[in-house]
Amino acid sequence: MIKKLLSCLGQYKKYAVLGPIMAAGEVVLEVLVPYTMARIVDVGIANRDISYIVKMGLIMVAMAAGSLAFGGLSAWCSAAASTGLAKGVRKRLFDTIQNFSFSNIDKFSTPSLITRLTTDVTNIQNAFMMCIRMLIRSPVMFFCAVFFAVLINRHLALIFLVAIPVLGIALFVIATKTYPRFRTMLKKYDHLNSVIQENLIGIRVVKAFVREEHETEKFQDIADQVRQAQYKAEKILQINMPIMQFVMYACILSVSWFGGNMIIVGGMQTGEFMSFISYISQILMALMMMSMIFINLVLSSASLRRIIEVMDEDISIKEQIGAATVIPDGSIRFDHVSFDYHGKTDNPVLHDISVSIAPGETIGIIGGTGSAKSTLVQLIPRLYEALDGSVMVGGRDVRDYNLESLRNSVAMVLQKNVLFSGTIRENLQWGNPGADDETIIRACKAAAAHDFILAFPKGYDTELGQGGVNLSGGQKQRLCIARALLKNPKIIILDDSTSAVDTATDSRIRNALREGLSGTTTIIISQRIISIQDADRIIVMDDGRINGLGTHEELLANNLIYKEVYDSQQGKNDYAGT
Ligand SMILES: Nc1ncnc2c1ncn2[C@@H]1O[C@H](COP(=O)(O)OP(=O)(O)O)[C@@H](O)[C@H]1O
Ligand SMILES: [Mg+2]
Repeated sequence: MIKKLLSCLGQYKKYAVLGPIMAAGEVVLEVLVPYTMARIVDVGIANRDISYIVKMGLIMVAMAAGSLAFGGLSAWCSAAASTGLAKGVRKRLFDTIQNFSFSNIDKFSTPSLITRLTTDVTNIQNAFMMCIRMLIRSPVMFFCAVFFAVLINRHLALIFLVAIPVLGIALFVIATKTYPRFRTMLKKYDHLNSVIQENLIGIRVVKAFVREEHETEKFQDIADQVRQAQYKAEKILQINMPIMQFVMYACILSVSWFGGNMIIVGGMQTGEFMSFISYISQILMALMMMSMIFINLVLSSASLRRIIEVMDEDISIKEQIGAATVIPDGSIRFDHVSFDYHGKTDNPVLHDISVSIAPGETIGIIGGTGSAKSTLVQLIPRLYEALDGSVMVGGRDVRDYNLESLRNSVAMVLQKNVLFSGTIRENLQWGNPGADDETIIRACKAAAAHDFILAFPKGYDTELGQGGVNLSGGQKQRLCIARALLKNPKIIILDDSTSAVDTATDSRIRNALREGLSGTTTIIISQRIISIQDADRIIVMDDGRINGLGTHEELLANNLIYKEVYDSQQGKNDYAGT
């Protein structure tokens, strides 16, 4: 895990190495100061040797300045290394997520991926910074201080033999007690994040349903749970300080007592005594830092595990080496295809689908919600992978194609349309980065979008808000169709893409597509018979199976479901567009 993390450092590796070295330099000089002080008092002052005092004084100043410089450099290095690490980890995570298949994304859920990319990475960054600064520093400080303390007075140093184990045991108990409490706290924190994210993403729905109060209560509840969990964890952690101070003052008292007696009988000098006291605080400081590092590592290991989980996720859809890049034609064949979102089950979402579609054919798909229409077409550009049987495009299994080529040839307007912030033109050019104005306008005309775009003061240069908030549902759908058309695909799939468009515009779009897309295989999913009745053939989906296949007339004559839907929509002026 750690190795994988460190491999994200990249060019910042040198800072991660330099940082601890600088910290070690800082601490060695720091530890030498009390020793020098002892020499000044015991040798310089005792002998009234001014030149010795000045010389040692200057050395001490130099050491202090050196320690300061090393400290600054170490802080600078650790900041560079930890921010570099955060950048590297985020980039690696983002790249991995870009390669995720739809089922990989389903597994993690979007809010959790966001938390992992932000909060968890920040946790790691902080812990890493702390490690660089302290992981070397505190043991070095500990051992150097013990060394000098023993050097000054071996007998007095025996006090540490009692104090250090006492402190060590106390820290160990505290750390083992807080570890599970911190893990619980992090889980609660996760939950808090998902509540916030869900609420913010769905804020319009919350307002439309006047659920603010309910949402506020839900939030307060989880916020309070976080508070409690945090309180429980911190409560134990706070005992750390009093115990440490108790041990420190106990040490100082015993050193004063025994040391004072030694000075009286001549076994110790005043300067030595003074510096000994300094070393006590340095040793206890070092122990304190080690316990802090330990707790911080415990805390961040939960975050690290969540990050590595994403990095190690097996990308469920891979392309073969040397996969085909040319899709010969727009024919499609499903051959005994079964599929489910959760692996093999007895009752899959798609059940034994077999159908052949010729290049250039227009196919309508109709069926109730949840009858797996969207699922069926998502297998064509290999957004999901068939569990059994095979899906063929252009006479070859979709698994034999290079993913980019396949998806470039199969344009899909998803049921949930997404536009990005940027101008209308930029959004359209997603489909075809090099498209000139003429091509763009032709596509927009076919999608019945040209007129409403021109109605904006800035036309094609109109800025879209995040997710296209300043467009109506029907306008968004038409832009998405135009974007798909610009790809010049061999197969175009419209998944309920005109549901928010009025029937007149819908039929205008269909006519334009028919003219502009001769030779392109077109699949139109719709709830409205009128949108698909002109198709060459129509598939009736029912509960993951093909219930009927034929022309409008054939199905009317011999398919019960189709006839029922037809009758129910007869004479009704379908819901108006938005
Ligand atoms: N990402 C998903 N994860 C798990 N189940 C899903 C997912 N998407 C759809 N389903 C389930 O698959 C079934 C078919 O859904 P879908 O193909 O979207 O139906 P339709 O487009 O005909 O309304 C439904 O029961 C739905 O709950
Ligand atoms: Mg659907």
